[in-house]
Amino acid sequence: MMSNGLFITLEGIEGSGKTSHAAMLAERLRAQGRPVLLTHEPGATRAGQAIRAIFLDPAVSLQVVAELLLVLADRAQHVAETLKPALARGEIVISDRYADSTTAYQGYGRGFDLKLLGELNRLAADHLFPDLTILLDCAVETGLARTRLRTNAGDRGPDRFEGADLDFHRRVRNGFLTLAKNDAARVRVVNSERSREEVFADIMRLVDELVRQRWR
Ligand code: TYD
Repeated sequence: MMSNGLFITLEGIEGSGKTSHAAMLAERLRAQGRPVLLTHEPGATRAGQAIRAIFLDPAVSLQVVAELLLVLADRAQHVAETLKPALARGEIVISDRYADSTTAYQGYGRGFDLKLLGELNRLAADHLFPDLTILLDCAVETGLARTRLRTNAGDRGPDRFEGADLDFHRRVRNGFLTLAKNDAARVRVVNSERSREEVFADIMRLVDELVRQRWR
């Protein structure tokens, strides 16, 4: 890659625990004195916030291609405004979801042609791909149950994806696992159906390994 930073993404189905582990990882690395940028998709930029509102609203009907192009537009802004500048500053960038989510959700989940999707993903990502991707894997039933607890506690209904059927989520999970199998050096699977401490210990092991190999 052209940058000096490290780019780490967390991926997984709804309720797989990405968001809390991303926060814990950022905190741990900062405690080690490292410069960290914690970010997420969709919706991390100004344009992204507007895109996210349309993208997740189940009342807005979207063609598969429209759904795909929206999330890619979000990514193009994220890469240019947030990710590349932080990597150029030499930071460790942690993103809660990135291009693999598009392959899993819009490709495996919605059925968009994987080859064309791969090309569009490269276009939107401007050839920026992660140094390490941590795939938090759990059963669809486990993940959705966790998400439901969260939605019930708040005052909002399920978003476009949380409300999708079980088969959709199974295709997404299997899509992520296929990605991991096809790119085993980059995408590392961590079983997230264990205690938070056990899961986080595995994540830290992978990140320490990367930092030792690649950090100046
Ligand atoms: P979000 O509320 O950010 O929560 P979480 O990541 O914890 O599930 O939801 C983002 C949703 O957008 C999520 O259901 C997955 C979906 N998504 C895609 O379908 N394609 C993508 O490329 C990305 C980045 C997200």
